[in-house]
Amino acid sequence: MCEDHEGFTLWFTGLPCSGKSAVGDRVAEILKQKGRRVERLDGDVVRQDLTRDLGFSKKDRGENIRRVTFVAKLLSRNGVGVVVSFISPYRELRDRARKECTNFVEVFAKCPVEVCIERDVKGMYQKAIRGEIKEFTGISDPYEEPLSPEIVLETDKETVDESVQKVLRRLGELGLL
Ligand code: ADX
Repeated sequence: MCEDHEGFTLWFTGLPCSGKSAVGDRVAEILKQKGRRVERLDGDVVRQDLTRDLGFSKKDRGENIRRVTFVAKLLSRNGVGVVVSFISPYRELRDRARKECTNFVEVFAKCPVEVCIERDVKGMYQKAIRGEIKEFTGISDPYEEPLSPEIVLETDKETVDESVQKVLRRLGELGLL
């Protein structure tokens, strides 16, 4: 049954604590329950393994996204639904991923930085504000918003479940479910 499905790359981008991982995890879970072949590539996990040698300079973030793009390309062209969540702050690198991956769907987890600071799940924003973490996205490092993402999630206004439903609806409209 899996063989009938086209692969895709569902690429979540956004600030730290914008909800990328929470929504991506849930979407991946639901797709698996539906019998899809799914792989998850999440920044916090991938950085413990495939890209553990990399930091957060512009060059290292670029290399991080380059490797992840390569993996997503291989999987998505072989029928896997790849759910990717990385800050991926640079437009140029996301656009390169769009060109390389099969059925690339960009999801912008849009959330004002003030709300992300309030969430501060791991206390990293406070450290960044105190200057204890350098080059922290949203505080001391840039984030380039997508110009024409397929999906925009307003995670300060929607529940996780509402965002998840939005993503699934769009995947359906695109003929990818
Ligand atoms: S990316 O910019 O290269 O796409 P990625 O998504 O892999 O970033 O990693 C982000 C995670 O690394 C964050 O969730 C956070 O836990 C951690 N992190 C550590 N240092 C930084 C930093 N300087 N900027 C952003 N995230 C950081």
